[in-house]
Amino acid sequence: MNVHPHTTPPPADGTPLESLPVEPLLTAEFDVDPGAVYERLRHTYGPVAPVGLMGVPVWLVLGYAEVTEVLRNEGQWRRDVRYWRARAEGRLPRDWPLLAGYEVRQTMFMDDEEHRAARRTLHSALGPFQDTRNPEGWELRAAVARYADELVGLLAAESGSVGFADLGAQYTRPLLLMITTRLFGCPVEMGDELVMDVWRMLDGGPDSGPATGRALGAFTRLAAHRRARPGDDLTSYMLLSDPQLSDEQLGRELFMNAVYLNDITGNMVLNTLLEVLRGNATVRRSLPTGQLGETVNRAALVNPPVANMCFRFAARDVQLGNVWVRAGDIVSPSAAAAHRDLLALSSSHMVGSMVSTRAHLGWGAGTHQCPSAARELAGMIVTTAVGRVLDHFTRAELTLPPDQLPWRSGPVVRGLRLLPVRYELGPRAPSAPRRTPPAAVPANQSTEHESRGLLSILRKLMFGGR
Ligand code: HEM
Repeated sequence: MNVHPHTTPPPADGTPLESLPVEPLLTAEFDVDPGAVYERLRHTYGPVAPVGLMGVPVWLVLGYAEVTEVLRNEGQWRRDVRYWRARAEGRLPRDWPLLAGYEVRQTMFMDDEEHRAARRTLHSALGPFQDTRNPEGWELRAAVARYADELVGLLAAESGSVGFADLGAQYTRPLLLMITTRLFGCPVEMGDELVMDVWRMLDGGPDSGPATGRALGAFTRLAAHRRARPGDDLTSYMLLSDPQLSDEQLGRELFMNAVYLNDITGNMVLNTLLEVLRGNATVRRSLPTGQLGETVNRAALVNPPVANMCFRFAARDVQLGNVWVRAGDIVSPSAAAAHRDLLALSSSHMVGSMVSTRAHLGWGAGTHQCPSAARELAGMIVTTAVGRVLDHFTRAELTLPPDQLPWRSGPVVRGLRLLPVRYELGPRAPSAPRRTPPAAVPANQSTEHESRGLLSILRKLMFGGR
């Protein structure tokens, strides 16, 4: 690997990133209204802005054209963290919280043939779950719908056919945990604290290092378990697809896939539900035609769950937008900021048309975009989860004004902490499963408690509380 070749000298007026004054990105304002922050940065700096991420300077790429250039030009924009000059020169703060995730060597942080081979393994392991003619395919689809119905049934048992609910803690999160547990062939005991550790890693909490270590350990044990006892699950099919994978390698891949399946897909469900609930005219318009897929696209455009994609590192000095990026500099391509370019055109004809919503970068773009088999799986889960709510609820209204909803707004993900609604179930909504209903999870509980709450729901649903 040829790291940091300065093939072209930086121009005389190109101040290096590390010497530029930067404003921190993750502020209280960003939590509440990231769009306003992107607007201001764009106004001040143009399509590429220097920002501080937990004390480390990063180029934040805001313009749609510049983001797509970074995503598509893999020869120039590398994923391997060893290209990062500040890291190689030991200039990162000790315990920089985002580093733990980037040090986990898996598909996302590989380049070239190693990367293509890892994608092929995932693609063939997901294959059986895609085809509805395969038992794995239709069983998974049926299970997703059944889990969704059971959770609605539990809601009815807890709060009646008219009541209040948090569609995050009482529906979406347990649903995704149930799906992940099933797809991965995961003994449910392994679920404890795992979701929270994934959040800690993604959001760069102070304990992100130990949290990443714990989650990796759990997935490595899962890999070893399925090597010894193969089943009809993704873990076993990954091993079939690449028998050379060690338990540690497979554990790393499962870890990364769990982030997308459990957390990102859950956020996509919630963000889509929010768009529907707040009566976004375009979303509602698309519902009667049964085009839920189009609704998901529109929600991804307004609120992509992967708001800021993974870092890339410049292979050579290059001009991007109106700045010079030096070899080894770190850039963060922002889908959420880039979408503002599309939305700015929306008042004209752009977002009104079917083609334009597909221009969203919610799945990424280029060689590292979300693999097609994963997109299909995620699309099935999101449309089923949202579709079941639309089927069973005759009324659902937000109990908070949309601008007061609490968001989890980290360097990567933007997802709702809560989606509180007042609801009314239809006459044909599922009744409660014949199992002990778990205690409701109060909407204002901390995420720690929420994790326990949803795990107890999961246990009770899947194992009747054993
Ligand atoms: C609605 C749900 C999902 C969304 C919005 C989503 C979005 C994305 C995005 C934006 C990327 C590119 C990130 C980047 O370039 O930095 C990505 C990559 C990826 N996603 Fe998804 N994803 C979803 C669901 C899934 C699921 C369910 C899986 C697996 C079961 C999955 C597996 C992956 C993998 C393996 C990559 C890395 C690909 C690579 O680096 O070559 N995703 N996803």
